[in-house]
Amino acid sequence: MLSFLHISDTHISVDPKIGSHELFAAAPHPNRRAEALVAAIRQLPFQIDFILHTGDVCADPLPENYQRALEILRRLEQPLILLPGNHDSLELMREILSDGERRRVMGDDHVAIKGYHLLTIDGTGADNPLAPTLSDSQIKRFAAQASRTQDEPMLVAAHYPFIRTGVPWIDDQSRVQNGERIHDILVRRRQQVAGVFFGHIHQAVSSVCDGITYACSPSAWSNFAGYPGLISAEADPGTPSGFNLVMIRENRSFIRRFFLPPNAAPRENML
Ligand SMILES: [Fe+2]
Repeated sequence: MLSFLHISDTHISVDPKIGSHELFAAAPHPNRRAEALVAAIRQLPFQIDFILHTGDVCADPLPENYQRALEILRRLEQPLILLPGNHDSLELMREILSDGERRRVMGDDHVAIKGYHLLTIDGTGADNPLAPTLSDSQIKRFAAQASRTQDEPMLVAAHYPFIRTGVPWIDDQSRVQNGERIHDILVRRRQQVAGVFFGHIHQAVSSVCDGITYACSPSAWSNFAGYPGLISAEADPGTPSGFNLVMIRENRSFIRRFFLPPNAAPRENML
């Protein structure tokens, strides 16, 4: 069995005013939530194989933010796999967060863990940072990597969702615009694919499309709403931040959400 935690969108920053945009106005400073996330994970009464962070580790791609992220995330005892989000710099993440062993930063990449192939896709270098279109060469590279897994079990991780949800702001403004091409590759290997894991849209959702399971981790900081007809991102202050536990065994995927305790502390002194 493979067990891991899926975390996302921590938006760590040394800027005390970060998140003052109306979308985040009701949320505490993201560093406080990231600290709460690490504390909650450290108290879990079970073992996991690794932690997957699907991006937006920091709010802005600045060295001082990644230094702060390192201070917070290094207290996690499990191996940590980090992907860049649209707020991140892959180079700075590699330089500051990766130690090549316990903390691994992945772009378009592949790693084998306990007989499972984890394939990652980096959409952050593409044209539109919020809703990228993957290049032909990137998709070809992904297809080649997928074919090298032969018929062994496979997981896929990315910052962005690939498939349409029916929520306009997600589909048109916050999704890989040609994500169907990745989906088509996965459908041809559906017997192998244990799940596709992503963040970016700051909400815990899961869906099944053509036999492929897609799961988004809630943001560890603050969450957005998603419903039919919603044309722009909207805060969802009633939904607590959290993370997902993923357990995969043979042909079964079990995904459970964990909530972080509410945090009523003021925003200041969070750095
Ligand atoms: Fe984010």
